[in-house]
Amino acid sequence: MKLGIFDSGLGGLLMTRAVQAHMPDLDIVYLGDTLRLPYGNRSETSIFEFTKRAIDFLFAQDCALVIIACNTASATALRKLQQEYLPKAHPGRNVLGVIVPTLEAAIDKGFDKLGLIATNYTVNSNVFHEELTKISPDIKFDQQATPLLVPLIENGGDLWVDDVLRHYLAPLKTSGVECLLLGCTHYSLLKDKIKTIVGDGVTLLCQDEIIPAKLENYLARHPEYSDKISRNGLAQFYVSDVTPHYRAAAEKIYGQAIEIEKVEL
Ligand code: DGL
Repeated sequence: MKLGIFDSGLGGLLMTRAVQAHMPDLDIVYLGDTLRLPYGNRSETSIFEFTKRAIDFLFAQDCALVIIACNTASATALRKLQQEYLPKAHPGRNVLGVIVPTLEAAIDKGFDKLGLIATNYTVNSNVFHEELTKISPDIKFDQQATPLLVPLIENGGDLWVDDVLRHYLAPLKTSGVECLLLGCTHYSLLKDKIKTIVGDGVTLLCQDEIIPAKLENYLARHPEYSDKISRNGLAQFYVSDVTPHYRAAAEKIYGQAIEIEKVEL
């Protein structure tokens, strides 16, 4: 069996590359729902339905465990999938999200005030803040929706990214945030630009730097999944829509040439 990694688009390739760098032997199946990207401006019902279809596909590809790398999908669908859908539809398999592991990494570092940038849906859901309050209610929290970033990244809008980032980050710069969580798969691509704008006084936490070690730890504690995942260092990459632009973007994000195959979800 394999490890599945799901994202609404191609940003999750960055996390995939990081997981492979950390655990090179794991056999991985990646799915990016490029046909329906961006998820971040859609309704809860739609995001849940898209995510359900995506994990159905990954389980049909013989995945024992799926990481929902997309924060928007994690915010919407994770609990409901784990508690209601999987026990009936895919007993013995599991999905993991990225929100709690990201918060835990920030809490472990001892910050008093966290900031978050994420899609409209993730910010409006308030899931990061709710989960933080459950774990560490004394840590202060501020968040900013940054809905233009994914469309700019996915459509080669480099020329405008700095101006848009400066606009979005201005309130967080003045609110005393010590650590900024990049709560979207795509934002790790902008970490250098974001670092320049927020300055040295703010620590950035990027999920591609957090999740691989968290996953390794999870696998060590859960042999019921980890023993089932084969370890030949193989990777397959699927998307729900493909164009020459997507192929080029996938290679740019992943950092080397990859074969991406179109599938119907
Ligand atoms: N991948 C999504 C996330 O991590 C953002 C992209 C989208 O809006 O679909 O939240």
